Amino acid sequence: MRRVAVITAGADAPGMNAAIRSVARRSFELGYDVLMVKDGFEGLVRGDVEIMNKKMVSGILPLGGSILGSSRVGAEYAVQNLAKIRDALTRNNITTSVIIGDRSAVAVAEVFDANGFPCVVIPNTIDNDIFGTDFSIGFDSAITTISDALDKLHTTASAHHRVMIVEVMGRQSGWLALYGGLAGGADFIAIPEQPVPIETLAAHLKQRKEEGKDFSIVVVAEGYPTGTHEPGPAGRPVAGYGLAEALSSLTSLSTRVTVLGYLQRGGSPTVFDRLLATRLGFAAIDAVREGKSGILVGETSQHIAYTGLREVMTQPHTVPAEVIMQAKTFY
Ligand code: F6P
Repeated sequence: MRRVAVITAGADAPGMNAAIRSVARRSFELGYDVLMVKDGFEGLVRGDVEIMNKKMVSGILPLGGSILGSSRVGAEYAVQNLAKIRDALTRNNITTSVIIGDRSAVAVAEVFDANGFPCVVIPNTIDNDIFGTDFSIGFDSAITTISDALDKLHTTASAHHRVMIVEVMGRQSGWLALYGGLAGGADFIAIPEQPVPIETLAAHLKQRKEEGKDFSIVVVAEGYPTGTHEPGPAGRPVAGYGLAEALSSLTSLSTRVTVLGYLQRGGSPTVFDRLLATRLGFAAIDAVREGKSGILVGETSQHIAYTGLREVMTQPHTVPAEVIMQAKTFY
């Protein structure tokens, strides 16, 4: 009898619940027991595990966040708590763990795999920085939030003839800034993959003004190296303010900063993320049925793909160069 544990780990993102629902429904269809682990790996270490029934996943498809709760821990935490993890898995007769999460979750899954704890990972992060899948669950929802925010910021930037600098998330990747900025019609997109001298940005904005464009929207990824600012509260990056400060020393343009922050992690998942989550949840249980373990299930070129966890952790998932090039047409 297969008993599948469902764990949501690392940063939450819209679509997590859709994935939980799909994992559970496919498992029930195959006659597997499903156990829900509360609060990610911290909950597993606490032994906070309970049986899941069909009713528990009813109505959760459109919900943001995770009905299970999540936590972000790293591989070291798993190694330090290996005995408690093994105890929780054994006591609950868990045969496989399906882990829905970000890169930190993949790192812990590697520890599971190295210690003989079967696991399958479903990529879920707004950062979209996971190798082995074209898109991670949550990315499309986050760029939709960014695009909507840029639409709203256009009107106030235009009314006051300002440069509105919008800082978005993404850790060290520029996926959110590039795709969200493109969708929202940004006039400049600053991504860590291709940092440019601040003078270039200043010249670009001045030229826009000379051409009669009386406002600009600049999207900057939080990982963009502005070099002028120490990390902000709770160690959060301050790329937006760093860029504004650097620009103020080079131009007389009026600038304001908007940090979208955790709005990008909230809300109901888009249709794309609901469908991606449903497909990957189903694929994860099919991988379990095939006896697979130590893999991430992803979707590449619209086909389900299995990738070994070591490869996922070591291969970068970089922003496509052709998209960077195409974006430059618009700024
Ligand atoms: O990994 C997703 C993410 O939102 C990043 O884009 C962001 O830098 C980070 O999580 C914030 O981490 P926390 O939720 O722990 O503050």
